[in-house]
Formats: sequence, C-alpha cells, structure tokens
Amino acid sequence: MIEFKDVTKRFKTVDAVRGVTCEIRDREIFGLLGPNGAGKTTLIMTMATVYNPTKGEVVVDGHSASTEPDKVKSLIGISFQDPKYDRILSAREILQRHGKVTGVEKGVREKRIDEVLAKFGLTGEAKKRTWMLSGGTKKKIENAKVFVQRPKIAVFDEPTAYLDVPSRLMVWDMIDELRNEGTTVVLATNMMDEADRMSDRVGIMNKGEMVQVGDPGKLKGSLRGRDVIEMKLEASVPELVGEVSKVEEVKDARFEGDVLKIVLSSGRVLLPYMINVVTAKGGKVQTVNLKEPSLEDVFLHYTGMKLM
Ligand SMILES: Nc1ncnc2c1ncn2[C@@H]1O[C@H](COP(=O)(O)OP(=O)(O)OP(=O)(O)O)[C@@H](O)[C@H]1O
Ligand SMILES: [Mg+2]
Repeated sequence: MIEFKDVTKRFKTVDAVRGVTCEIRDREIFGLLGPNGAGKTTLIMTMATVYNPTKGEVVVDGHSASTEPDKVKSLIGISFQDPKYDRILSAREILQRHGKVTGVEKGVREKRIDEVLAKFGLTGEAKKRTWMLSGGTKKKIENAKVFVQRPKIAVFDEPTAYLDVPSRLMVWDMIDELRNEGTTVVLATNMMDEADRMSDRVGIMNKGEMVQVGDPGKLKGSLRGRDVIEMKLEASVPELVGEVSKVEEVKDARFEGDVLKIVLSSGRVLLPYMINVVTAKGGKVQTVNLKEPSLEDVFLHYTGMKLM
C-alpha cells in the first residue's frame, strides 16, 4: 500500500531520514517506533507530500508522492503530532473544514462530526474556540479529523500523547474500528504498550534509518537467550543448577534464595520440560514465573540503547 524506496530527507546539514526502504501493507496497523529525533515524523511527512524526499521515492497505492501529490494527498488523512489551529475557529468548525476539503459529503459530514465529538465526550466543547482548549482536547480534535474523514490511509503521529487513560482506550478502539473498515494505519508512537497492543507490524527507526521491521511477537522472539524462568522451590537444591545447565538452550542458571532463575531461549516452549527436569531431581516447585522480552527490550536492543 505504501512503499518507501531508499528515501532520504536532508535538512541543511541533518539527514533526518537516511535511505529508508520499507513497505506498509494494505489494511495493517504499522507502528513506527524510534527515539526522539529518529525521523518518524519526517518519514511520515514524505508520504504525506509535505516534504519532498532529497533522494528516493514514496509510492502510495501505486502513485508516486513526487509526481502525483494530489492523488496521494486524497488517499491520506493525518493526525499531526503538533497541530496548529487557526485560533478563532471552534472545534466543530475545524472538523467541518477538514471534512469539506477532504471531500466528505455534507449530509454524512455533520452526522460523523456529531458521532465523533460524542465519542470523545466533546459535544459540550464543540463551540469553544481552539485557543481555549486544553492540550489533551486539542489532540482529540486532531484525531477526530481523521475519524471524520475516514481515509483509505490514516496516519496518527503520537495520537495519545497528553490523553487521559479512558481517552487513550477510546482512541485505540476507534483506530481498530477504522482498520476493520478497510483503512491502512500508520501509527508513530513513543509508547511501547500502545505499539505492542495496536500494531500488526512495527518498524524501528534509529538516527534516520529503519533498523528493524517485523511483527512484535517475532521481534521479541528474536532476542534469543532473553527469557527468564523463575521457579520458587520449597528449598534451594544447589545441584539443580548443574542439572538444568545441561539443557542446550539454557544460557545461565542460579539460585537466588529458594528461587531458581534460568535464563534461556524458547522459555515458553521449554517451560514444562524444565519443570520436569527440576522435579525429577527432587526440586519441589511451588510457583513458576516466565518473563519474556518486552517490546521495550526489543526497542532498546535495536536502537543500541541497552546492551543485551
Ligand atoms: N523542518 C526541519 N528543519 C530542520 N531539521 C528538522 C526539521 N524537522 C525535523 N528536523 C530534524 O530531523 C530529525 C528527525 O526529526 P523528527 O521530527 O522526524 O523525529 P521524530 O522521530 O518524529 O522525533 P519525536 O519522537 O521527538 O517526535 C531531528 O534531528 C530534527 O531536529
Ligand atoms: Mg515526531
């Protein structure tokens, strides 16, 4: 649906995006991750035709963003990270204008605006001018633009920054709903729980480059040797350390008090086997805990922010 072909975007001396080649599939939710300044917003701006790449090309649904910008623009709806509004417009007027310029028919438009405002609990604030709105409310209005538009491709740049917990859940539901209706979603976020929960696949950017793309589960699995099984035993049995270490996948094992900690790959698969090994050698297992690498571990690993 969206192809980035060796896309580079340079601002004077900074290569904000460096040679990104990556594909976003039809009807997936693609999470775009990366530390502050990694180039997420800049990459999004190249597909939105706001920036022309210094090198390379973005192709959206078969149309080049460089040579057919109007066609590409008509396919995309964006919730910007840092929206700037005309201060004197009201929230409703912003949504009306947005619906109008993106071609939402008048009859449908008002109904959708009412629905979206109601979902966000903003019906009472719809007449307020935007300069009076709180940071979170402005962010909701920015997201609401996309939900009113219902584009073929929806881009959300940090959609839940500033939002309270119920509002975050609401935005997640609404993004899911949009995707179920056939929209392809690009979601740039610094929140790992959001990326993990929402994304079919994630792309991790670092210093302008796309350093890893894949589904969150597989990326977590790629950090081999990172699973930890913790077995609390009735009492410590020191010789068990040598015993479990005979298993090929085990990288490390030790007792901390009466808890046997085993660092291994494929912990989920080997868990029953490891319990058997321990039990067969006289260990009396009371509780078991399996810790898997989180998306945060994956993020820190691929952005070189933590050694593993
Ligand atoms: N208009 C611009 N002019 C000059 N430099 C820019 C411009 N926009 C972005 N940059 C630079 O490009 C780099 C990437 O910025 P970008 O906003 O794309 O990062 P990001 O991944 O979205 O970060 P964040 O998580 O903070 O939103 C940064 O070094 C930034 O300073
Ligand atoms: Mg950004």
